[in-house]
Amino acid sequence: MTQTTLRQHLQNQTTDAALTRIIEDISTACKLIADRVRHGAFAGVLGAAETENVQGETQKELDVISDEIFQQIVGTNPDLAALVSEEVDEVNWRKEAPKAGDFVVYYDPLDGSSNLDVNLSVGTIFSIVQLEADVAPSAEAVQIDGTKQIAAGYAIYGPSTGLVLSVGQGVDGFTHHPGSGEFLLTQAAMIIPAQTQEFAINASRYDLWDTPVRRYIDDCLRGAEGPRGKKFNMRWCASMVADVHRILTRGGVFLYPKDSGNAGQGGKLRLMYEANPMGMLVEQAGGASSTGTGRILEVAPTGHHQRVSVILGSRDEVAVIEEYHEKA
Ligand code: AHG
Ligand code: MN
Ligand code: MN
Repeated sequence: MTQTTLRQHLQNQTTDAALTRIIEDISTACKLIADRVRHGAFAGVLGAAETENVQGETQKELDVISDEIFQQIVGTNPDLAALVSEEVDEVNWRKEAPKAGDFVVYYDPLDGSSNLDVNLSVGTIFSIVQLEADVAPSAEAVQIDGTKQIAAGYAIYGPSTGLVLSVGQGVDGFTHHPGSGEFLLTQAAMIIPAQTQEFAINASRYDLWDTPVRRYIDDCLRGAEGPRGKKFNMRWCASMVADVHRILTRGGVFLYPKDSGNAGQGGKLRLMYEANPMGMLVEQAGGASSTGTGRILEVAPTGHHQRVSVILGSRDEVAVIEEYHEKA
């Protein structure tokens, strides 16, 4: 069997050596984070941050450790202008005078971290844009919409460690090969089927949902006899990386809508380092990503920790959910 490494794959897909280097740096950070996640219980890093262990050493939760690893590995990349992390309030500028062509990397160092204590899949999500002009470091300078992403992806720390990536030419999946330490191409050209009979939503928020979301789920639950005319299955991992990975593998839709419980913040999931990168991956795999009323990638950012309604997955099913919103 021919093996393709991440580097060989990137050399086939892009002539931009700087982009290849920064993606390789991100993949290295993800391997180190995977190692810490696997050793979690032994390393005493599960649970709350800033607690002390029996030796009186400060323990840090894995969210913080993962962010530190990412900063250490990716933060020294020579073409990097700034890092924007879920775990850090301010933009982490790495250059005093960022130039056109420099990269901004948005990332969620550990997504789904509430699953760590119960040993379920978690991941790291990232999005890369390239500055179009020289800029002065400011919060506004990184408010760049999702259509400008040149690459996006995630690492998943599950039974195996995987890396799923798009540089704008489809989506490809890699598996970490422990013997060589390389990410090897295992799922070339991932495609999301246009239709599905599987949805993912946190149904405990039913009482908080807006009318269109409630009507859509009600109609799905009525099965073959209901208006959808087919039986639906349901999944919810409480880990966006794991839910999106399932959708990229076998289809489905994922919803984390704005509801009356999170409307004050604009929703739950974050635009720049959760919704945009996952939206790009899903679109590149033939699916769709929407807020319910428009394309996620076209949302104009107003802040780098902005939250947004997220509906993504199988193309035809996302269109059906948008119709429920239009009718309301
Ligand atoms: P994070 O761990 O980075 O804060 O993200 C958690 C997110 C996402 O991964 C998941 O889809 C969602 O929150 C789960 O939310 P509920 O706990 O409301 O189900
Ligand atoms: Mn997250
Ligand atoms: Mn996180």
